[in-house]
Amino acid sequence: MPNRDVAIVILAAGKGTRLKSSLAKVLHSAGGRPLVEHVVRSCAPLHPRKTVVIVGHQADKVAALVEPLGAETVLQQPQHGTGHAMQVARRALNHAKLAVVLPGDAPLIRTETLKSLLNAHRAANAAATVLTAVVADPSGYGRVVRRSESRVAAIVEESQLTPEQREVNEINSSIYCFTLDKLWFALAEVKPNNKHRELYLTDAIGVLAAKGEVVLAQVSPDPREVLGCNTRADLAEVDRIFREWKRNALMDAGVTILLPETVLIDPEVTAGEDTILEPCVQLLGKTRIGARCRIGAGSILTDALLGDDVTVEPHCVVAQSRLDAEVRIGPFSRLRPDNHLKTGSRIGNFVEMKKSTLGEGSKAMHLTYLGDAKIGAKANIGAGTITCNYDGFHKFPTTIGNKVFIGSDTALVAPVRVGDGAYVAAGSTVTDNVPPDALAIARGRQVNKPGWAARKRRELAAAKNPRNSAPRKRRSRRPSSRRRASAKRRR
Ligand code: UD1
Ligand code: MG
Repeated sequence: MPNRDVAIVILAAGKGTRLKSSLAKVLHSAGGRPLVEHVVRSCAPLHPRKTVVIVGHQADKVAALVEPLGAETVLQQPQHGTGHAMQVARRALNHAKLAVVLPGDAPLIRTETLKSLLNAHRAANAAATVLTAVVADPSGYGRVVRRSESRVAAIVEESQLTPEQREVNEINSSIYCFTLDKLWFALAEVKPNNKHRELYLTDAIGVLAAKGEVVLAQVSPDPREVLGCNTRADLAEVDRIFREWKRNALMDAGVTILLPETVLIDPEVTAGEDTILEPCVQLLGKTRIGARCRIGAGSILTDALLGDDVTVEPHCVVAQSRLDAEVRIGPFSRLRPDNHLKTGSRIGNFVEMKKSTLGEGSKAMHLTYLGDAKIGAKANIGAGTITCNYDGFHKFPTTIGNKVFIGSDTALVAPVRVGDGAYVAAGSTVTDNVPPDALAIARGRQVNKPGWAARKRRELAAAKNPRNSAPRKRRSRRPSSRRRASAKRRR
């Protein structure tokens, strides 16, 4: 249901000093996306009137990320605190009655929780509703001081806690719903009474409560949802939770994951039923995997598209490539971007491909580089084949037809074509096109020299130790018939 009277405000102007980073905090990633992107996406299903992101530190970069997602940005420069951020946004919010306010550094928040926050706020006709969480370790968060069962008296920041308040384990998530005219009124009374000289949005809660306005607390059903990322340790923890949620969603959809805690899956990845992910697999970007596939241990797939019944043996690296049904790769295969492996084709250990097509049922099983190559169906690419696609200045294509046999250790010097059904002898350096059904042999002819090695060994032994060598007999002037025969063989 659309919420035309509601604006979303995401506070994302801060630097994130505690991260000790040159990158603005909300641009750091957890669960495969920048923090602020998670927040914008969680809010979108509320169908608000508008989504406003407050930007400041690295404003251009944050705007470049959130504007394509449909948000507008308001610049807060300099940043004088979360309350100041809301004041800066005021003009952009002038047609909204309510605002759902969220920090850009708490990315685990779910749409359902926001919907129920908004519903509670509307039902009580509240001035403010604070999403809170009860946690084991509240350190670092503002604490919620209750007035009654459901009402809030104040939010007290960590640095201003009394010893009793330090015992409170209900924290402020920094996610709120405000009735805007009441918020503006309260913010006007907030003073920068803290060591950072900032205007805290949390102090507006106390002002509203003191005026007798309805300020509600709504406890988050899952306290993990409100975790904020202020430190690298927070980022790691939030990333771990995102990854766990994603793995659980895939397992619910019929995917087997072995040692799940070792498997890393980005949010947009999909996988079909009965696919098996072995330990230490990473599925990244927009990877899509069909049904009944097996992804071997340690393999990393980025933006890969796999049909059904594909096998990726352990330790493969696949980027932006398409593998049709029943393809088998690895172990230790590397697919750089823009490959298409057609149905039933196979590549094996230490085979690298780039911008290449391997036709149906074709194989390249060992130690091979295929770059800018188009290979037909049922071809056999021998061990150690190299497409020499680069002459130091430009890249050139190699075309290999159907049912071609390329012998081991062949260098195909591009641009070159090998016609359907042709054979290339092992060890060839192919510089000219090979006609269909021909045999190309492009290598030096072999010469065998009988006894050469044995003689060499004798000579070397004699040179090393001349005394041990038998005294030479005086040769008769005319060689014996045996010597004559062996001399002939030597020639
Ligand atoms: C804030 C709350 C705290 C709460 C915690 C939950 C305040 C004063 N404190 O603390 O009660 O428990 O979140 O995570 O609000 N920001 C701006 N402009 C500014 C300052 C901050 O846009 O001038 C943004 C930051 O980029 C960040 C968010 O507001 O995304 C929250 O700021 P942060 O510094 O992380 O506040 P916390 O100390 O976490
Ligand atoms: Mg924070």
